Amino acid sequence: MKIPFVSFLPLEHELDKNIRSAFERVYERSWYIEGVEDEGFEKAFADYCGTNYCVGCGNGLDALVLALKALGIGDGDEVLVPSNTYIATALAVTYVGAKLVFVEPDIRTFNIDPANIEKVITKRTKAIMPVHLYGQPCDMDKIMDIAHKYNLYIVEDCAQAHGATYASKDGTKKRIGSFGDASGFSFYPGKNLGALGDAGAVVTSNSELADKIRAYGNYGSDYKYHHIYKGNNSRLDEMQAAFLHEKLKKLDEVNENRRMIASRYLHEIKNDAVILPYVPEYAEPVWHIFGIRCSRRDELETFLNDAGIGTNKHYPIPIHLQKAYEDLGFSEGDYPIAEEISKTELSLPMYYGMKDTEIQFVIDKINEFR
Ligand SMILES: Cc1ncc(COP(=O)(O)O)c(C=O)c1O
Repeated sequence: MKIPFVSFLPLEHELDKNIRSAFERVYERSWYIEGVEDEGFEKAFADYCGTNYCVGCGNGLDALVLALKALGIGDGDEVLVPSNTYIATALAVTYVGAKLVFVEPDIRTFNIDPANIEKVITKRTKAIMPVHLYGQPCDMDKIMDIAHKYNLYIVEDCAQAHGATYASKDGTKKRIGSFGDASGFSFYPGKNLGALGDAGAVVTSNSELADKIRAYGNYGSDYKYHHIYKGNNSRLDEMQAAFLHEKLKKLDEVNENRRMIASRYLHEIKNDAVILPYVPEYAEPVWHIFGIRCSRRDELETFLNDAGIGTNKHYPIPIHLQKAYEDLGFSEGDYPIAEEISKTELSLPMYYGMKDTEIQFVIDKINEFR
């Protein structure tokens, strides 16, 4: 049996008619940037996230950059970023000219550990960027408490967690993206909500911030040929907005299907060599990635690949050891938890429409590994 790490085909087959009619709708209108599709999707996605505004943009990295810029973060400021995340989170901080400060994650959840945040806060700290990695919400009650105590902005990186919810101690349950001052989403094709190309968005409930973000992503312009900032060009085009709107209608079903697969993995994988992901009580993850840990990760990967099962590693080199950041002067041992995750994490196949027999095959093979 051949099981890819990820496949878009089951969802694409189901949405075939909707996607083709979305294409025709836009093509016949012959209007490709800043139009009704963009408006319609932005409204629907803001409603979905539980925020007042959504501003579409070119990709998830731009979403984070635009959010930081609109908050006025730049030169001389420090921004706290988990040491275990995709490099885009760090690059966004670098692009606005601020200083990256890494915070180690909780090895059980892979997410930023609130217990490690306060010790790195200085007078220059301006923001925390919690990343809801692999689709699992960060511990937002604790992070929001710290942000209020030190008067810091929160920019959530929601690139991997469309639709994940967090249950607060007071009993309220909210979608991630609705906690921060502004939150960035990626709609890269492989995400739980993916476009048919690059796309992204920022959600916020602050109208002034939403206007700034929109202007920054549109040449710094508040209205045509009137420029109030030295902005850039990062807009969500009509075609992608139309596709995303169709796919948004199915997002809950997609996430539910991923939860079913995750639940089978969590209950049926029984092998002492493997550490399964931990889901805290507050979290309702959407399983963008199902990451297990194994001290013999590379052997397990070869074993699964030889059996026809596709796997991946998120991420094999932590950001502080990447060549791109050698100027920061970090070395092995500086962020041991991120390093441990990079050496032991293995991502299993996880996508909408995996067949029962395929899920079973993955479980059986992992249980066979000795
Ligand atoms: C955690 C995280 N942040 C940001 C991004 C950037 O998104 P994009 O690829 O759309 O620029 C990604 C994309 O993979 C991501 O995983």
